[in-house]
Amino acid sequence: MKYLTIALAKGRLAKQTLALLEQTGITCEEMKDKDTRKLIFVNEELGLKFFLSKTSDVPTYVEYGAADIGVVGSDTILEEGRKILEVLDLGLGKCRMCVAGPASARELLKKNEIIRVASKYPKIAKDYFYNKKHQTVEIVKLNGSVELAPIVGLSEVIVDIVETGSTLKENGLEVLEEICPLSARVVVNEASMKMQRERITKIVKDLKQALSE
Ligand code: PRP
Repeated sequence: MKYLTIALAKGRLAKQTLALLEQTGITCEEMKDKDTRKLIFVNEELGLKFFLSKTSDVPTYVEYGAADIGVVGSDTILEEGRKILEVLDLGLGKCRMCVAGPASARELLKKNEIIRVASKYPKIAKDYFYNKKHQTVEIVKLNGSVELAPIVGLSEVIVDIVETGSTLKENGLEVLEEICPLSARVVVNEASMKMQRERITKIVKDLKQALSE
């Protein structure tokens, strides 16, 4: 039996996904060892391989077929824009992609002023401002702690993930506009979906079932 390879985004989502897979009878004991530095894990019996990668790389592994299946947030899927099939919304890690900033920036958004937008998600930010709002902005790519940008004067607003809203609140910022809801998705390589359709759809169906239990 050919191995099916599943790519998981390192961190909380991987743990939640593994718990869900376990409900469907798919386990990977090797992966539970907290001290391991191994990156790839095998379940010989089920013919499955798992690996943990940086979140933003999951769509890349799936597009190139290095992984047949991936589990990753829709923020990453949108930002990476890879040619992959999105087959299931797991509803895990629900949050929102938002434009945020100080309350005073609300006016700047309304007046379509040329402003600076800082984000870890330049593609999503660009698509929102250019294609949906038709507002010309300057986008500045950051790699984290994006909330800092309007506070220290790097940008007027940010485009970032808001989950509880506490990071914004603690820094005197607020949601100004909502771009889209986000959650974890199962993605599949296009060729794998053709070649291994039966096995893949069975896994997806079992996951769907586990979610409704
Ligand atoms: C994310 C996001 C926000 C925060 C939102 O950051 O970029 O900063 O979580 O969560 P909240 O609404 O519940 O406060 P993350 O912790 O991933 O780190 P980062 O700042 O390095 O991106």
